[in-house]
Amino acid sequence: MSLPSLQLLEQELEKQKRRFELRKDAFERRIERHIQLFEQRKGAFERKIEQQFETHKKKFEQKLDTQKKKIETRIRRFEQKNGIRLDDEVRFIRSWFGKPLTTGAVTPSGKALARTMAAYIDGSRPGQIIELGPGTGPVTEALLGQGVEPSRLVLVEFEPTFCRLLRARYPAATVVQGDAYALKPLLREVLQEPAAGVVSGLPLFTKPLRMRLRLLFEAFALMSPGAPFVQFTYNAVAPIPKRLDRVSVEASERVWMNIPPARVWVYRRD
Ligand SMILES: C[S@@+](CC[C@H](N)C(=O)[O-])C[C@H]1O[C@@H](n2cnc3c(N)ncnc32)[C@H](O)[C@@H]1O
Repeated sequence: MSLPSLQLLEQELEKQKRRFELRKDAFERRIERHIQLFEQRKGAFERKIEQQFETHKKKFEQKLDTQKKKIETRIRRFEQKNGIRLDDEVRFIRSWFGKPLTTGAVTPSGKALARTMAAYIDGSRPGQIIELGPGTGPVTEALLGQGVEPSRLVLVEFEPTFCRLLRARYPAATVVQGDAYALKPLLREVLQEPAAGVVSGLPLFTKPLRMRLRLLFEAFALMSPGAPFVQFTYNAVAPIPKRLDRVSVEASERVWMNIPPARVWVYRRD
């Protein structure tokens, strides 16, 4: 190639390079604008999803209210006719009809699931043991069954009917009636030292992720380092994402001897 044509080629290359640099800047600015726009829209989108969630929840609860009244009448008639006493299943179904998203299940956990959950609690670790959403107490029973002193139990339950039942069944335990999603203020006066573990039967998936995460980190703040946060779920995926900074996560085998089958997830922070 002759010298002039080489020079021409160089000039052309230089031009292309400058053009590319100009376009690159514009392109980067465009990407930056899109990121900003996305961030702005993300907030609005999250708020919209939460609003939709609340609207659907209300509609669902209204529909069930009608059904609830009919079934309540039938249960009462059945009890009168047969002269039987309420058992835990009926109490649970009643509660589910009243507040399906709070109760989260139509029947109490079976023994196999309750034992799997309780087994993650190390009784030799000092401190109280917090149970969230004990309902009629199958997991409480499993904790006692593995030798936990009833006086070490702090049972946090939303439903007043379940609270009355728990107080009658476990008089030595501390029953706190309230919202587990406000755990820290709720237990401020109750905990004497960092807790040895939290066992949760809450229907976590009925709450947005940010509430689930807040609950987990409030629980960590109330426990000694390395203590477990034990949660069961009927879902196929973890109730709280597995990749969290400084948090180790493990899962049990699926417990098939439960209706419906469930899995237990355990979160620990050192
Ligand atoms: C799926 S049931 C589990 C009950 C019991 N642990 C079992 O395994 O059978 C969920 C329980 O959590 C309670 N619960 C739901 N939301 C709650 C909240 N925000 N605070 C405290 N308890 C709650 C319900 O009243 C219900 O007793």
